[in-house]
Amino acid sequence: MNSKGKYYITTPIYYPSANLHIGHTYCTVMADAMARFKRLQGYDVMFLTGTDEHGQKIQTLADAKGVTPQEYVDEVVAGIIKLWETMEISYDDFIRTTEPRHIKSVQDMFMRMYEKGDIYKGEYEGLYCTPCESFWTESQLVDGKCPDCGRPVTKAKEEAYFFKMSKYADKLLELFREKPEFLEPETRRNEMIAFVEQGMEDLCISRSTFDWGIPVPIDEKHVIYVWLDALTNYITALGWNTGDELFEKYWPADVHLVGKEIVRFHSLIWPAMLMSADLPLPKQVRGHGWLLMGGEKVSKSKAAKGQDVIDPVILIERYGIDALKYFLLREYTFGQDGIFTNEVMLRRMNFDLANDLGNLLSRTVSMIKKYCGSEVPEATTKDAIDEELIELAVNAGHRVEENMDEFKFNMALEEIWKVVRRANKYIDEKEPWALAKDESKKAELDTVMRNLAESLRIVSILIEPYMHTTTERMREQLGLSDVKPVWEDAFEFYKMDGCKVEKGQQLFPRIDIDKELEELYAIGGAAAK
Ligand code: ME8
Repeated sequence: MNSKGKYYITTPIYYPSANLHIGHTYCTVMADAMARFKRLQGYDVMFLTGTDEHGQKIQTLADAKGVTPQEYVDEVVAGIIKLWETMEISYDDFIRTTEPRHIKSVQDMFMRMYEKGDIYKGEYEGLYCTPCESFWTESQLVDGKCPDCGRPVTKAKEEAYFFKMSKYADKLLELFREKPEFLEPETRRNEMIAFVEQGMEDLCISRSTFDWGIPVPIDEKHVIYVWLDALTNYITALGWNTGDELFEKYWPADVHLVGKEIVRFHSLIWPAMLMSADLPLPKQVRGHGWLLMGGEKVSKSKAAKGQDVIDPVILIERYGIDALKYFLLREYTFGQDGIFTNEVMLRRMNFDLANDLGNLLSRTVSMIKKYCGSEVPEATTKDAIDEELIELAVNAGHRVEENMDEFKFNMALEEIWKVVRRANKYIDEKEPWALAKDESKKAELDTVMRNLAESLRIVSILIEPYMHTTTERMREQLGLSDVKPVWEDAFEFYKMDGCKVEKGQQLFPRIDIDKELEELYAIGGAAAK
């Protein structure tokens, strides 16, 4: 297959302050689906994820646990990598900000910006908690007090390095004007434009009150603070400034996929940093919405309030990776917030997966076994109903492509499920059990079996980016385990000459929702205590 070019996609690098929850999983699952989709289409894909390991919070957590920050992050990161491995997330690289390659890259970035005259020493003024040795902003305070220890904070100043962000305000406005696709949707772009027009302040990029960070290369008393460290990961992984050909090949990124709360950092600070370093800008930043629980953003600290299980490890153990991925991708509309409950999840899994897809496959395979001795027969007849099914199936891929271009994962899956539902209805309309009773209808019966098998084959290709293990399991039952799923084959119909079906396990066992919810609430309740 000819390569269609390169495609570089990233997720945020997550803080390893605690294990990840369903919200992080949501973002990574979307990035994985997009990476797999592009690979299937023939792109040369680079998919990056990782962890953002420095900062005060990690240091405080490590101190409280009596371990070093490095020991603390090593343990959490091992769990994160294990989660992605279990989920078969297809990342090409996993970057940790504590790796030597990243430390060098961030220091190089700092020096580039410094040599450009864009970094200066100034005074950072903030609200300081003396016992915690932490600066906070007004919005981080809880009831006006330190969010970590609850004690009062005082105004304080410290020496710090600043990045002259203000110098790039006009260039950022020009970016939004000339390349509106850099930040979609328009509402979010307009928010950023308004933010810049209000007058942008310079950005504090160092701290000297804690030391769990990358040292400022020209001043060992300081560590580089948060965003300069974190954002640089996207080029570190490509070996920026080391002569690595990956950088030449994959930079600029095609898309940085991030949650809406960090769109600002990715669409203002990151381009300004790259402008300062004379590096090309990413093509696009895409902000997704939040999963909400009880009206609030799902987060580890809020979990205690509800009893819904938000730990992906538990959910995967119970339902498998594909059911969880399908639910996340099908249920939520990209860019908007969505409500997460275990009940919504279980209903979606039962209706779409057990009922619609699972049933279609098991019914089809059973009938081909029974009526055709397991061999996928030839289709020698065709009526209007057959044509309607075939039309829908061979064109679904186009509609999937259109929706994926816009990150509309839910609509892409809906287009595939239209084929699944149509095929189920086709069985009801054609009543193969009645055709089987009449010898003179054998050709028609064969056509029905063939058309069902081919529709399922097409579905097995179309769902690969979202549920690759189901693709495999479907293809085993369809007698296609030796044939690789190829995107182009989803646009053609008769490709199953000589295939022999084989009955396998139910794709998705039916869930007894009431019973399952009780069990989940018990687990969630126990986790919240
Ligand atoms: O912000 N719903 O890391 P982080 C949907 N280290 N997505 C959610 C979510 C929710 N309830 N909660 C988290 C950081 N996310 C920085 C990023 S990037 C250079 C540095 C997802 O561990 C969402 O994608 O707080 C969000 O942007 C990300 O996790 C934040 O992860």
